[in-house]
Amino acid sequence: MQTLNDIRSTFLSYFEKQGHEVVPSSPLVPRNDPTLMFANSGMVQFKNLFTGLERRDYTRATTSQKCVRAGGKHNDLDNVGYTARHHTFFEMLGNFSFGDYFKTEAIPFAHELITRDFGIDKNRLYATVYHTDDEAFEIWKKVGIPESRIIRIATSDNFWQMGPTGPCGPCTEIFYDHGDHIWGGPPGSAEEDGDRFIEIWNIVFMQNEQFEDGSMRALDMQSIDTGMGLERIGALLQGKHDNYDTDLMRALIEASADATSSDPDGPGKTHHRVIADHLRSTSFLIADGVMPSNDGRGYVLRRIMRRAMRHAHMLGAQDPVMYRLVPALVRQMGAAYPELGRAQPLIEDLLLGEETKFKQTLDRGLKLLDDELAGLPEAAALPGAAAFKLYDTYGFPLDLTQDALREKGRSVDTDGFDAAMAEQKAKARAAWSGSGEAADLAVWFDIAEAQGATDFLGYDTETAEGQIVALVRDGAAVAALEPGEAGWIVLNQTPFYGESGGQVGDTGILRRLENEDDQAQVTDTQRMAGGKIIAHQVTIGQGRFAKGEPVAAEVDHARRTNIRANHSATHLLHEALRRALGDHVAQRGSLNAADRLRFDFSHSKALTTEELAQVEVEVNDFIRQNTPVVTRIMAPDDARGLGAQALFGEKYGDEVRVVSMGTLDGSGKGADGQTYSIELCGGTHVRRTGDIGSFVLLGDSASSSGVRRIEALTGPQAQAHAAQAASVLSALQGELKTTPDQLLARIKGEMAKLRELSNEVAQLRRDLAMAGGAGQGGGTPARDVGGVKFLAQVLSGVSGKDLPPLIDAHKAQLGSGAVLLIADTGGKAAVAAGVTEDLTGRVSAVDLVKAAVPELGGKGGGGRPDMAQGGGASAENAQAAIAAAEKVLEE
Ligand code: ALA
Repeated sequence: MQTLNDIRSTFLSYFEKQGHEVVPSSPLVPRNDPTLMFANSGMVQFKNLFTGLERRDYTRATTSQKCVRAGGKHNDLDNVGYTARHHTFFEMLGNFSFGDYFKTEAIPFAHELITRDFGIDKNRLYATVYHTDDEAFEIWKKVGIPESRIIRIATSDNFWQMGPTGPCGPCTEIFYDHGDHIWGGPPGSAEEDGDRFIEIWNIVFMQNEQFEDGSMRALDMQSIDTGMGLERIGALLQGKHDNYDTDLMRALIEASADATSSDPDGPGKTHHRVIADHLRSTSFLIADGVMPSNDGRGYVLRRIMRRAMRHAHMLGAQDPVMYRLVPALVRQMGAAYPELGRAQPLIEDLLLGEETKFKQTLDRGLKLLDDELAGLPEAAALPGAAAFKLYDTYGFPLDLTQDALREKGRSVDTDGFDAAMAEQKAKARAAWSGSGEAADLAVWFDIAEAQGATDFLGYDTETAEGQIVALVRDGAAVAALEPGEAGWIVLNQTPFYGESGGQVGDTGILRRLENEDDQAQVTDTQRMAGGKIIAHQVTIGQGRFAKGEPVAAEVDHARRTNIRANHSATHLLHEALRRALGDHVAQRGSLNAADRLRFDFSHSKALTTEELAQVEVEVNDFIRQNTPVVTRIMAPDDARGLGAQALFGEKYGDEVRVVSMGTLDGSGKGADGQTYSIELCGGTHVRRTGDIGSFVLLGDSASSSGVRRIEALTGPQAQAHAAQAASVLSALQGELKTTPDQLLARIKGEMAKLRELSNEVAQLRRDLAMAGGAGQGGGTPARDVGGVKFLAQVLSGVSGKDLPPLIDAHKAQLGSGAVLLIADTGGKAAVAAGVTEDLTGRVSAVDLVKAAVPELGGKGGGGRPDMAQGGGASAENAQAAIAAAEKVLEE
């Protein structure tokens, strides 16, 4: 039997023998297309090659491309599990020609591979061609397909488009006839929807480009883009009719059955198929850097995860299941896609975390769903509001609810759901961001085409002469930039580093050689046209900078020195984290700026104080070691052989730059047995680790789910930070007259004393107030007013909130009577009155307060008959306030 792994190899090596470059699959998150959520076919990574915007040093390529169709235009999520051929994740085999061969080669290649290498019976093959494509028709005839089995199709089925815009063209599709024991008719017939004739390969003749406004142009070059689903061809070659019966999918289904102790072919069959498919898409998405979240790509990932979890739940699984299946997936696909094995710990961690969390609401949500359905008439749709509640409160994505209803033959009122969702959706859309557009502007590709790549000299020097080869203003090429104008200048060579790999772009100065006083300030440097062009963002000071002129380019030395130190420190930090926390630590992003560094990495927990200290100490140890930083250029495989840490998905040329630092003195722990840190990196670095100076960790925080962020300082910034900390420390020591080792204990002691003192002060205040107060009217004993024992006092040194307890205490002392207390709180006045229970029938504390408040310059006041409060602007007329209250009593 040819396994899927065999079939993938046969395909790639067939085209390799035909002079094709075997190019690795691009990541699922397209790096070159902000309009696309996920790579959905093999041609995505070559998009700019078809339109002629980009050139590479090969014109024929072959790939096995990871694809996800679960969101956007091509969305297969709903059908997965229930049909024989739908997947959220699949592999697309393809061969590509970029202006090299066209129809006359592409069709015979496909025919030969299918009939000879794969051994498929040619009498079972059918071909469709676009209705006007006589040429393709004739070629099929020539390779031996009889006219009766070549079918002209006039619909969009035979005109392939990636999306609303981009390269496109007519196509020819190859169909396989599974035989008359299965119902169905050939393409174009009334029975074409049957399962007898299955499409196995699509060959697109890329010859047009579709634009936003609906217009289409003919491309200068004629190219080939083909796509063959590995799972489909696999099923055919393994004599199966269902993609899920192929060896690879079957292994995952059996793993699912194992983990849930259920029968892979029993009543839970559909659940196993969903789980097997979703395991692939979720694992590959995580390996390519997608993290579960509530919008954009992360939400698609979460929806797929949760859908799988519900199906595991249907199988009766009590505990999380998905994470336990990852090893089986890595066994099946880890060899073809090494990124999967590298990310295995992260994938398992995230799946376990998400499953554990979702389990907490899954049961309750399903119960709510059942209750809702029970209250509805037979077959009625679930109201949108209920679906929204499931979404909002129980974390049920809409498609999960629909999936659950599907089994019961019910549906959701999606309009109602949409209405309830509209607001959240608007928010998600606003948060959605694609990848940088400026760098993709056609003008940069034109410059790259005309001038070739910029030569970067900045590894060895910070000053160099170069010639102006292009200038850009407001997105268009111009002949010159005048004084005061801002724009971009491209040189044939430059020491300026264009922002990439987390390292910020250089700043500095360009001078005209003809007159050194003519200067342009470089405020930033960027890489354009897929990294080929280095562009200086400039503001012209004096002089006119025109195309063709020579200039002297000078990088801001002090700034670059700091950037270098931060970038090298980031490498040491990465390795120190790996050693402290484990191999799952992978770089998720970094910033190497002039004043600080930031490093994001996969790790699910906050770092402990001990871990942070260990990492900081280890980085500083290697700084003090002061060994040379070694840069080598080598083939990618050799670099991987050394154990180099690389961000998967970075686009590297044929040769990679490998940066190593730190020596392990033969302890055998380094990646290559003796080197501490080895990374693929295009950035600029210090010459010796000692040049970093010193390293201070500022701390660690959560960047996103499963990703931690560390910020740190080096060199002068670290020193300034340390100096600041030291001066604070020494001031504290002086103030407390203590030594560093006693400082913490002293501070804790002082704080305890402070707490004790402030409790004591509060108590004293209350005691003092009870004894008559320190206020101007203090000490008045209770006297009889209108037959009621009345005590009135003006107090200072107490606040309004001290009054109620004092009132209570006085009431207790009086036994029967009324109390009025006025607090002079420094500028303002607070008043409270109290009346003992036996008298509240005769006089209310509220009335006493209400009478007093106007005299204090306030308004209102209120409370209960036994206790009321109010306030005013000043206690100046406190005696008048007391008199007013007395009047109430007399009345
Ligand atoms: N890009 C073409 C497809 O996806 C080959 O079918």
